[in-house]
Amino acid sequence: MKRICVLPGDGIGPEVVECAVDVLKQATDQLDFIHADIGQLAKEKHGSYLPDETFDLMKSCDSCLFGAVTSSERSDYTSPVLTFRKELDLFANVRPVRSLVSVHGRSAIDVIIIRENSEGMYTQREVFDDEGVTTLRRVTRKASERIVSFAIRYSVENGRKRLCCVHKANVLRGSDGLFLQVFRDLMERQQGHLTKEEQLVDSAALKLVNEPDAFDVIVTLNLYGDILSDVAAGVAGGLGFAPSGNIGPKHSVFEPSHGSAPDIAGKGIANPTATILAGAMMLRHLGFNDASRAVERAVSDTYASGHLTYDLGGRHGSKTFTDHVLKRMVGKPLDESHR
Ligand code: NAI
Ligand code: MG
Repeated sequence: MKRICVLPGDGIGPEVVECAVDVLKQATDQLDFIHADIGQLAKEKHGSYLPDETFDLMKSCDSCLFGAVTSSERSDYTSPVLTFRKELDLFANVRPVRSLVSVHGRSAIDVIIIRENSEGMYTQREVFDDEGVTTLRRVTRKASERIVSFAIRYSVENGRKRLCCVHKANVLRGSDGLFLQVFRDLMERQQGHLTKEEQLVDSAALKLVNEPDAFDVIVTLNLYGDILSDVAAGVAGGLGFAPSGNIGPKHSVFEPSHGSAPDIAGKGIANPTATILAGAMMLRHLGFNDASRAVERAVSDTYASGHLTYDLGGRHGSKTFTDHVLKRMVGKPLDESHR
């Protein structure tokens, strides 16, 4: 049995997480789900956006499934997401985006964005002076080597052929220059499994929209990965299509790439696909490969059968879409290795 810490969070977080948990329960009986508070509700109930009990549970579980939180402009706000990524050493953020339906006027996309998750623009070190604020953007050799090595390993293990470093080293010659140099050095040593590609971040954004099949796997710095994964999701049909895994040497947290979407929260119309597919990523991470494939197949089959969610102009809300996914999983085999 594996213990999963479930963190629904705010806005549409609880709506999409509930759908994913239903699908995971159908996929395998080898998971034990323990719920915990995070975000605005946690602040109201426990006085903290990431209460100690929640963090301790995240650490003691085999993996975590997280929805989203709503950020706040309050002066005492600290992002629970950035905190758990840092404290749990979740250095790699893996964001696969694949078209499941054909979206009018857009090419099909099948890209994995691997984002450095521990430094770059997200160190939150800001220095104030009389004229303004200077934000310190940190790039280290150690973190760059760690993420590029991870990206090479992940690409090879997943049968991918091309790895593209997305950067802005023509302007940020020191920091992005270091990241790019590390990429070039490590790609030299990877014995030809992968083709080496490089692209500036601004033209990469354009190319993702106009020629998405130009990319196979992207490895990039923190903020670029954050932005490009939303661009890629848009090409696939919207933010409901981008799952995400935060992975470290010991811990892992799986989540949709999107936020709490306050504009549609409480209406039951959020697309749960990203969170369901994040659950499939979690299954694979824990070694439940058959169950993971069964979830991915059921989601693809649901779309292929013409059952579309509201964001695609269809008639399915979170629940009825999930019912169709569940229907396609009945009687699917469980992983023998974990029985
Ligand atoms: P967002 O990702 O929440 O929403 C952007 C747009 O995409 C909205 O129009 C929303 O309705 C739509 N959308 C998002 N997920 C969808 C889904 N599953 N199905 C259908 N439509 C979907 O980003 P936004 O509006 O910039 O941020 C809202 C809040 O979420 C903010 O407080 C932000 O800080 C927070 N946020 C939290 C994240 C996290 O917890 N990991 C990540 C990103 C944002
Ligand atoms: Mg984002």
